[in-house]
Order: sequence, then structure tokens, then C-alpha cells
Amino acid sequence: MAICRWIIPCLLAVPACAAPPAPASAPAAPATAARAGPVTAPPPAHSAAPATTPIPELPALVRRLLDGRMVRHGGDLGAVEVAVKAEDWATVAERARAIADEPRLARPVGDTTLNAVIPPAFFDLQDLLHHRAEALEAAARAQDGPRVRAAYESLGETCGQCHQVWFPVP
Ligand code: HEC
Repeated sequence: MAICRWIIPCLLAVPACAAPPAPASAPAAPATAARAGPVTAPPPAHSAAPATTPIPELPALVRRLLDGRMVRHGGDLGAVEVAVKAEDWATVAERARAIADEPRLARPVGDTTLNAVIPPAFFDLQDLLHHRAEALEAAARAQDGPRVRAAYESLGETCGQCHQVWFPVP
């Protein structure tokens, strides 16, 4: 898919280049997430201790369900990037709203719901994305360039945070 080829390296580059520290509210994405291969954190480099924090797997069905939303996220974020450069705040606001409005997978209620198989950190990142998209929309409606740019960076960073764990790109 054409969009994946250009947008994913971008998304992963955002946190690497801008590297603003994640706010305290951000769920900690395991820093040692492997970019490919088995979904298990490698042991720390300077320790003989075995790996103790496996990264929870995301079921294949869930991945498939996410596909359409992700493709739309890719289109929206790409449009936001162009609009931020052009200082087209109306388009930034509209596309940020579209990201915020994407239906999210519902958190499980009790342990008998199907969604209980999804790791809690996934829901945290989904919500973080929603809130950051709303913050971007608000900044764009206020036509506040510096705030828009900062909000855009942290939105892209959130995409990268989740992909680092569950959609690693080699
Ligand atoms: C809460 C986790 C999470 C967040 C946040 C997230 N993604 Fe994803 N994304 C995924 C997962 C999981 C996949 C892999 C789905 C699969 O295996 O097919 C994915 C895949 C993708 C793909 C590839 C789709 C395909 O069909 O190949 C694109 C494009 C994408 N995401 C864009 C984005 C953008 C842009 C954002 C931020 C605006 C974002 N994603 C935020 C979890 C997330």
C-alpha cells in the first residue's frame, strides 16, 4: 500500500528526531520493544537477568479490524502535515477532528468480553491519540501556529509509540 511506504518511516522518525519526553500521563511503551521478530522484550543489555516483561500480543483478528482505521489515520495525518506547512489551519482542524472521531475499540467490561484479550496499554494509547488529536484541533481553531506544530509533533509521536510496540517496521 503506497501510503504505508512513506508514512510509516515518518511516524517512526517523529519521536526519534523531535524526542520530546512523553508526558507523565502517557502509558509507557516498552523501550526495549523489538522492531521485528518475537513479541518478547530482550533482556537489558547490562544485566544477566532473563527477560521478565513480555510485550502482550495483539490478536490477528484485532489487527485486521484496525486496518481500515489505520489507513484513514495515515491519510489524515499526511493531510495534516501538508496543511501545517501551508498554515492552512481549517484543514488541520478538520483532519485532526477526523482522527479524534475514529471509533475506538471499546475497553472490556469484566473479563468475559472479547476485548479483554487486548492489552490495556493499547486502550491507553488509543485514548491518548484521541486527546492529542483534539488538542491539535483546538490549536488549529485558535490559529496558533507554534501550538499547532507542537500538537502535531505529539500526535505523530503517539502513532509511533503504538507502532513501536505492535506494528514494528523493520
Ligand atoms: C493504539 C495503537 C495505534 C495507534 C495509536 C496508531 N496505530 Fe496505526 N497501527 C496499529 C497497528 C496494531 C497496526 C497494524 C495493523 C496490522 O497488523 O495490520 C497499525 C497499522 C497502521 C498503518 C498500516 C495500515 C495497513 O493496512 O498497512 C498505518 C498507515 C497506520 N497504522 C497509521 C497510523 C497513524 C497515522 C496513526 C496516528 C494518527 C496511527 N496509525 C496510530 C496501531 C496503532
